[in-house]
Amino acid sequence: MKPKVYLTRKLPNEIVNSLRKNCELRMWESEEEPVPHDVLEQEIQEVDGLFCMLTEEIDRSLLEKASKLKVVANMAVGYNNIDIKAAKEKGVVVTNTPGVLTETTADLTFALLMATARRIPEASTYLREGKWEAWTPMQLTGQDIHGATLGIIGMGRIGESVAKRAKGFNMNVLYHNRRRNQEAENKMDLQFAELEHLLKESDFVCVLTPLTAETENLIGVKELRMMKETAILINTARGGIVNEEALYHALKDGDIWAAGLDVFVEEPVSLNHPLLSLSNVVTLPHIGSASRKTRLKMAEVAMMNLLKVLNGEKPPHQVE
Ligand code: GLV
Ligand code: GLV
Repeated sequence: MKPKVYLTRKLPNEIVNSLRKNCELRMWESEEEPVPHDVLEQEIQEVDGLFCMLTEEIDRSLLEKASKLKVVANMAVGYNNIDIKAAKEKGVVVTNTPGVLTETTADLTFALLMATARRIPEASTYLREGKWEAWTPMQLTGQDIHGATLGIIGMGRIGESVAKRAKGFNMNVLYHNRRRNQEAENKMDLQFAELEHLLKESDFVCVLTPLTAETENLIGVKELRMMKETAILINTARGGIVNEEALYHALKDGDIWAAGLDVFVEEPVSLNHPLLSLSNVVTLPHIGSASRKTRLKMAEVAMMNLLKVLNGEKPPHQVE
């Protein structure tokens, strides 16, 4: 008998077909729209495995309904959408997809940093709206990237890959992390800094930590005030790490210069969100790992994790 699996989003056929070979598969047929909570609540009761996206909130009450569930395979590196403690108590293995998205997410982080510093979306709109009437000396001037100091909060895989790119731009790189990463320091000439020092010294601050109880609202009013008035904040990790209300006021009042955001506390972000009213904010719809190749790899890794657990084996990426 094949194990029963529920897939919460339509994925490319090659993935769905492989799942069908190995499992009795049911799935939410939409590619765009997330599975409604009440549907998931029904489906999870019957299955041995759940293959889900970061859009699904896998909380305790949901896990308590899933009497046969052995594994939750999240198609993301972040797993703040899953109640890990409740899963552990219920003996449900949780897996994620680290590694395969590192370089793609670092590319996007650096792209967002550059777009924000050089005001690229704003400049493009300026031209298309017919505002470019003459070349002027101080028009659309931004901040230099080369030679600037980058502060990376969270020196994991993605942090290291962003540091590598920054070194190619001749940036000075500071980082803050729970643990010192001596290997990365030596390899790339990075400097470890306390958070306060990093915030005070950096021209760019990149948030690259997971969202946990300790990192929630890590960047709030006090931290934003420590930053330079010319500083740029980039967040490609999770919205909840930065306090959005504090950020809005810091950007509006000129405490910092600009922000580039790929993530929000509530996603999709509402068009009425105050941050979207500011011209010094560059926004993206959570596309850090969004290259076709990488998303396929993430789906493959999630599938492999799922099948391993259902086969009674240890999965490559179990969240502890
Ligand atoms: C995306 O944000 C991920 O965690 O993979
Ligand atoms: C994610 O893969 C990270 O460790 O930064």
